[in-house]
Amino acid sequence: MNQTLQSVRGMNDLLPDEAEFWELFEDTVRSWLKAYGYRPIRMPIVEPTPLFKRAIGEVTDIVEKEMYSFTDSLNGEQLTLRPEGTAGCVRALIQHNLAAQQVRRLYYMGQMFRHERPQKGRYRQFHQVGVETFGLVGPDIDAELILMGARLWDDLGLDGIELQINSLGQPEERAQHRAALVAYFEQYSDLLDEDARRRLYTNPLRILDSKNPQLQEMCAGAPKLIDYLGVESLAHFEGVQRILCDAGLPYTVNPRLVRGLDYYNLTVFEWVTDRLGAQGTVCAGGRYDGLVEQLGGKPTPACGFAMGIERLVALIRDSGGTPAPVAPDVYLVHQGTEAARFAFRVAEGLRDQGVNVLLHCGGGSFKSQMKKADASGATFAVVIGDDEAATAEAQLKPLREGQGAQRKLKVSELAAAIAGQLIDSEIIDEQE
Ligand code: HAM
Repeated sequence: MNQTLQSVRGMNDLLPDEAEFWELFEDTVRSWLKAYGYRPIRMPIVEPTPLFKRAIGEVTDIVEKEMYSFTDSLNGEQLTLRPEGTAGCVRALIQHNLAAQQVRRLYYMGQMFRHERPQKGRYRQFHQVGVETFGLVGPDIDAELILMGARLWDDLGLDGIELQINSLGQPEERAQHRAALVAYFEQYSDLLDEDARRRLYTNPLRILDSKNPQLQEMCAGAPKLIDYLGVESLAHFEGVQRILCDAGLPYTVNPRLVRGLDYYNLTVFEWVTDRLGAQGTVCAGGRYDGLVEQLGGKPTPACGFAMGIERLVALIRDSGGTPAPVAPDVYLVHQGTEAARFAFRVAEGLRDQGVNVLLHCGGGSFKSQMKKADASGATFAVVIGDDEAATAEAQLKPLREGQGAQRKLKVSELAAAIAGQLIDSEIIDEQE
């Protein structure tokens, strides 16, 4: 039997209603990024697997179990669908020597792939807006990146997104903390779950991130990284907090915030909402000063974040936000052979003058075409029969109330008449 093909589990189509919503979201995001001086970069969706292993870390959920990796059948190269954008962005920065060209503020938007268990807000193909800065030591840029988030929530009309921050210090401070953590958890090794036991000697910090309720109490009593931070790391963290306080932005210091990727140091942050169930982090990031050098570039401090578009769009919908419907100005109805040929010219001519036209295709009776015109949401129908085609005229028929009666016009007068009436109706709409 012929089974209907479906999209891959956890990878969703965006149908026009949803996709229009996304485009409005992306428009807002692009103007917000411009306001902060960010420039776009687009990286490939497929990268060499070692890039992610080296950048994200071998002992992370992403690298251990979530990457879509495959072997190139022609040359045997190990490739991976990107699970995140930072690694590829840093690779591109090094490959094209962007830091030397003072290109320091970059953003990207696009698909990411992680083989996670799909649920609300968690998908196998999802989309991020990522923002990365290079060459700036902070803490000013760290704070600016955080404040950017606050402004975007405002621009999108979203509230209830809370900020959590933490400092992961520097590698040597983390090493001391790590030794203390291992010693602490070793006392309780019988009580650790399988995941935690596996991580004890590879990545004990991630045990603190465990979702297992039985480990929560043990984790609460574990040595805190903040107590191992040196003077400079503390000053950096205080610097970030001072700017946030000056800006009047509320935040919580969450010592358990450790992030699931290994490249971070110093400032890390997450924006979290309780309105999306378990997958409440809409945006996350931090500083990653070692990554550029680790991937073969010159030492370059860096900081950035990425947000999950699916989660943000769900929040906008949840808070009642709806994009303006995208309807054509004109639905062009035509009947007759000459009329059909003429209609093409009329449609292109109107578009030349800035009118959005949906040209009827596929024939059908006048009545059925008018039904389609109504359903399209267009403001006007322009109706052309063979008689009109012969005299270069058309009927302009308003499809909404209050826009006067149907009139016959010269085709050359159509665009001005439509523009005039569109403006009139906008004024009336505003007065209502
Ligand atoms: P991340 O925390 O792995 O960080 O992902 C950032 C955001 O992507 C999450 O907060 C969430 O909103 C969204 N996200 C992640 N996984 C999924 C999923 N399976 N389904 C839906 N949304 C998801 C990064 O990716 C870092 N590259 C962020 C960064 C940029 N740090 C510095 N620069």
